[in-house]
Amino acid sequence: MDKQTTFDFVVAANRLPVDAVEREDGEVEWRRSPGGLVTAMDSVMRGRDGAWVGWAGTPGEAPAPFESEGMWLHPVPVSAEEIEHYYEGFSNDTLWPIYHDVIVPARFRRTWWHAYRRVNERFAEAVCEVAAKGATVWVHDYQLQLVPELVRERRPDVRIGWFNHIPFPPVELFAQLPWRAPLLRGLLGADYLGFQRTADAQNFVRACRSYLGATTKGDRVTLPAEDGQPTRTVRASAVPISIDVASLTELARSESVQQRAQEIRASLGDPKTLLLGVDRLDYTKGIRHRLKAYEELFEDGALSCPDVTLVQVATPSRERVDAYKRLRTQIETTVGRINGTYSTVGATAVHYLHQSYDRAEMAALYLAADVMLVTPLRDGMNLVAKEYVACRHDLGGALVLSEFTGAYHELSQAFICNPHDIEGLKQTIMRAITGDERTKRRMMSALRKRVTHNDVTRWANHFLANLEASPEKPA
Ligand code: ADP
Ligand code: F6P
Repeated sequence: MDKQTTFDFVVAANRLPVDAVEREDGEVEWRRSPGGLVTAMDSVMRGRDGAWVGWAGTPGEAPAPFESEGMWLHPVPVSAEEIEHYYEGFSNDTLWPIYHDVIVPARFRRTWWHAYRRVNERFAEAVCEVAAKGATVWVHDYQLQLVPELVRERRPDVRIGWFNHIPFPPVELFAQLPWRAPLLRGLLGADYLGFQRTADAQNFVRACRSYLGATTKGDRVTLPAEDGQPTRTVRASAVPISIDVASLTELARSESVQQRAQEIRASLGDPKTLLLGVDRLDYTKGIRHRLKAYEELFEDGALSCPDVTLVQVATPSRERVDAYKRLRTQIETTVGRINGTYSTVGATAVHYLHQSYDRAEMAALYLAADVMLVTPLRDGMNLVAKEYVACRHDLGGALVLSEFTGAYHELSQAFICNPHDIEGLKQTIMRAITGDERTKRRMMSALRKRVTHNDVTRWANHFLANLEASPEKPA
């Protein structure tokens, strides 16, 4: 390392903001990592002299630490076997289903838990290596729930916060985890814990009461003194995440993005109505329910080509996990069936894109779409919903939003749906398509006020202020 080696501000997340991808010529290329965490934290880190500790996305030895766009990136090595056990296994086949209403069954493997613990220890050591004395350490998400306690054991001088980007499950589901007590103890190593919704924070507090015998008062959890350790009080509350509204709005206002939005519509045959879905290809996102409703609307004759088309962007995600493989097959079969039945020569019912795009292309897609379909069965926040609203400076478009997203709690003026209720979803989609334009503009204007009010900087400041004011002070 040839730069300053310790930092006052350290972020730890499973992924670095960029993934190392080996090109055919053997050279390593860095590409932006997928997901909402990176979208939000990338903006927060800009302009701060901080370090980001995370996995570089490839198996084996980690690349040397390096500087990128003003951030110090400190890669943590994760072996091929650990990717299978810690990342695909425990994080995404055990925790992810439990934390998302068990939409698919969770799988429990002791070897996965051991790998999770080992990798969390490695992250904690890397954090301690780069954290200056008295630093602020901000740990992220369900992959690193043991890191707060592991860092505290090693470095009582630092202040530790943790934010959960996904929901925290009700006690009845959390109860299934054989490792529920060590996970809670791991989190309680933090000084402050942030969640997307009040209900998530309350679920956590209740779990601490049930499984650690902690006493709780409002949003405070107190652990009894044990093993010579004094009591410890930790606060857990809601701090809903957001996006960099100003920069996205500016991008959407640019001449090139507006022109690209028109080109997109033209290349789709200038349909009267363009519907859009943008999701990681994940069973939590309700893509199957959305397609079912869309197909039935064609069946009923309410929609037809070439008047209507749907662009579904389904970003590749966790492709080696069985539930994700099955989902991909189901979605692609359904898209094939809808197109086979309802597309016409020159007009396609569903444009399915299993690819990643840059921010400008995403903004152009948002700007081009008349109706944005956000229909998750469970989602911590859903930044796509907020991005769509941020891009609609023209007050055009309509947002169909599931009540099972964190975003619903701020954007309840959207066209709200329960994706399990296919009949209701169909009616909501039709209202969003055929609704009176003036009413829709009023709705979009109200949504924009909410999104603009709570942008990513406000979120980060709110989280850090709560951390600063946490009941316990570092040693
Ligand atoms: P999650 O974190 O579960 O993936 P979010 O909706 O909160 O869901 O965040 C997804 C983020 O990834 C958004 O910032 C969105 O713009 C971005 N994104 C989604 N799909 C793509 C894609 N195909 N190409 C580029 N960015 C994408
Ligand atoms: O917010 C949920 C989350 O798991 C984030 O941790 C991550 O940014 C995103 O989804 C993408 O998932 P993965 O890192 O597994 O590709």
